[in-house]
Amino acid sequence: MEKISINGIQLAYARRGRGTPLVLLHGFPLDHHLWDDVLPLLEDTFDVTLPDLRGFGESTTIDTPYTMDDYASDIAGLLDQLGIQKAAIVGHSMGGYVALAFVRLYPERVRGLGLVSSQVLADPPDRKEGRYKSAADVAEKGIGGVVEAMTPKFTSDERLQAVARKSMERQKPAAYIGALKAMAERADSTALLSSLRDGFASQGGAFRFPVVIIHGDADALIPIDRAREVKKAVPEAHLVELNGAGHVPMMEAKEETADALKHLV
Ligand code: MLT
Repeated sequence: MEKISINGIQLAYARRGRGTPLVLLHGFPLDHHLWDDVLPLLEDTFDVTLPDLRGFGESTTIDTPYTMDDYASDIAGLLDQLGIQKAAIVGHSMGGYVALAFVRLYPERVRGLGLVSSQVLADPPDRKEGRYKSAADVAEKGIGGVVEAMTPKFTSDERLQAVARKSMERQKPAAYIGALKAMAERADSTALLSSLRDGFASQGGAFRFPVVIIHGDADALIPIDRAREVKKAVPEAHLVELNGAGHVPMMEAKEETADALKHLV
């Protein structure tokens, strides 16, 4: 992988294909390989940049706490160094939280937004507390507990569970800890969505860029209702509900996922 220096870390990324600039952000606790199966279906249409978010994969991290805004700033710095002014930003789950932070911080650099198995809500207090407890467990005992708890929730397909488990096992404890705390502290992005419209929807105000929402109706980590809420807030968004898919539609339903993402061209 190529690497750039940004915000005190080394950020690793892969770049493939030609066409509309597209950034694919992986979720927690994974790396850019999450997109491996769907990538060949996108390369003819998009110039795809696939970072490993700070701490994950081949990217390094720092010990001091960081936020979704820091992950988003890393991506803006990467795009600067690649000479990409504007891109469609797609995030899976936690990657969606980073995509929303990117939209809030750099709206002029966004030509489309994709949320895959993600949500715009912040953590309720009990979930937030659970994140800090998980971070403390990882610091004390390692990543095993989180890996065991999450593996069956990614998908009911045992072959894909094994792929996800391997990917989770590759990640460093510091990446887990940093991400768990950053997720706990993330902002609610509901109001952000209404700020991205030129005028009120009821008065025909248009959303500033295309939005694609992809969600499995069997997602055991983030229920499909979260996707339906985003669709309600942005009625012109293209929502694809995948029957029987869990938390990783880019692995479980790659053709449907690729077709949906092409609405961001
Ligand atoms: C993810 O898949 O990135 C996480 O499950 C998201 C979350 O825990 O909110």
